[in-house]
Amino acid sequence: MSPEEFRAAAHEVVDWMADYLRDIRDYPVLPNVQPGDTIDALPAQGPEHGEPMPKILEDFRNLIVPGLTHWNHPRFHGYFSISASGPGILGEMLAATMNIQHMLWKASPAATELEQVTLGWLRQWWGLADDFFGIIHDTASTSSMHAILAARELAAPETRLTGQHPRLILYRSEHAHNSIDKGALTVGIGIENIRQVPADAEFRMQPAALEAMIQRDLAQGHKPFCVVATLGTTSSAAVDPLPAIAAIAERHGLWLHVDAAYGGPAALLEEHRHILDGSSRADSIVVNPHKWLFTPVDLSILYTRRPDIMRRAFALDETPAYLLTAQHERALNFSEYSLNLGRRFRSLKLWFVLRYYGREGIVRILREHIRLAHMLSEEIRRDPSYELSAPTEFSLVCFRYRGSDQENQALYERINATGKTFLSSTVLNGRYVLRLAIGNLATTEQDIRETWDLIRSLARQATESPAAALPDPS
Ligand SMILES: Cc1ncc(COP(=O)(O)O)c(C=O)c1O
Repeated sequence: MSPEEFRAAAHEVVDWMADYLRDIRDYPVLPNVQPGDTIDALPAQGPEHGEPMPKILEDFRNLIVPGLTHWNHPRFHGYFSISASGPGILGEMLAATMNIQHMLWKASPAATELEQVTLGWLRQWWGLADDFFGIIHDTASTSSMHAILAARELAAPETRLTGQHPRLILYRSEHAHNSIDKGALTVGIGIENIRQVPADAEFRMQPAALEAMIQRDLAQGHKPFCVVATLGTTSSAAVDPLPAIAAIAERHGLWLHVDAAYGGPAALLEEHRHILDGSSRADSIVVNPHKWLFTPVDLSILYTRRPDIMRRAFALDETPAYLLTAQHERALNFSEYSLNLGRRFRSLKLWFVLRYYGREGIVRILREHIRLAHMLSEEIRRDPSYELSAPTEFSLVCFRYRGSDQENQALYERINATGKTFLSSTVLNGRYVLRLAIGNLATTEQDIRETWDLIRSLARQATESPAAALPDPS
């Protein structure tokens, strides 16, 4: 592709991007497609000969976009609602253009150092201790897997040599994200060695139950090695009591990993800073700027106070000749701290986001999201046909129609079939629950009010003609 051909296509692409962001409300949040539709619309064989860029872009618009779920839509409220902000998108475009891969300091010095600078800024904004070393991974799943590996390395260093370790036990709340279990499996812990600590009525880990489980395991000769606390659980955004969990972890010498993938950004707000109380005793913390910090997917931050252990977990007998590099106390080689060698220049988009909005701008937006969530939960509280299913933490509202699980599920299907909004669902206390998460930069009070009106009118229609409320059995 010649520079001129690239320039022409890039202008067309950027125009499309700007139009997309401007007109995003015209798109259905969820596509109206069936499994296999996109596969069927595309040729079964790849092209033998190259094709012109305008044709490729036309097919992108006509064949791919109609099958997409629009995560950047202001009425996307499923899972955790997110935003790829303008500055973040521009950073991503530049990173792709330069194709930087900074496995070693020498492989791209400024990329390595920008990662240190951006994670240092955020560490200060969060008031985390200076000895937290930050590294960027793709996802929280990868970050947590690395934390659990380091925990294993600290508890059973012989594993690195022999592959054998004592019966190591990991503790996490019954509401922890399943990435913790996957991470534990990946580092060889085994499902039988993952303890699900019961939660209280507000879905927070019960420290007394944690202590009892540890005592039981010790009595049986097992080796407790890691506990994971969650700040903002996936189902209901519950916040585990970190100070109490940290005290238990310290008493038993366990690695304390804090999963703040979603809730972490809230701690930038003075009124929520307390959720990090106890974090100075944590060994690692994960926060995902790609969830609620306006950074395009993917970017997850892992902070650890034990980078020495993280590095030792990956230490081999010798460094292969092709990776030998001059050592300098200020030249950090991030690949020594992670499974992956290659790494994308992710900090560029984060740097753009942090500079464009500033700490104050980010705080203002997060506070507005939290205000909207509380406004909605007040509306729900006032309506006798609905009930809140969990306390409204941060920007997530969990609620249900006062009816059967089947009615709630039917309502969920009807809401999402409109294409006007997208909610997700979960189960709390054994009941089917609707989840509405707010996290998009463009979401307004009007969006939330209209979505709430839509939900209520669909539920009313369902009571008036119940047959229409049930999803099509086919
Ligand atoms: C609390 C929590 N931890 C971890 C994850 C996994 O995040 P990722 O998709 O970045 O692996 C999620 C995803 O929603 C989450 O809610």
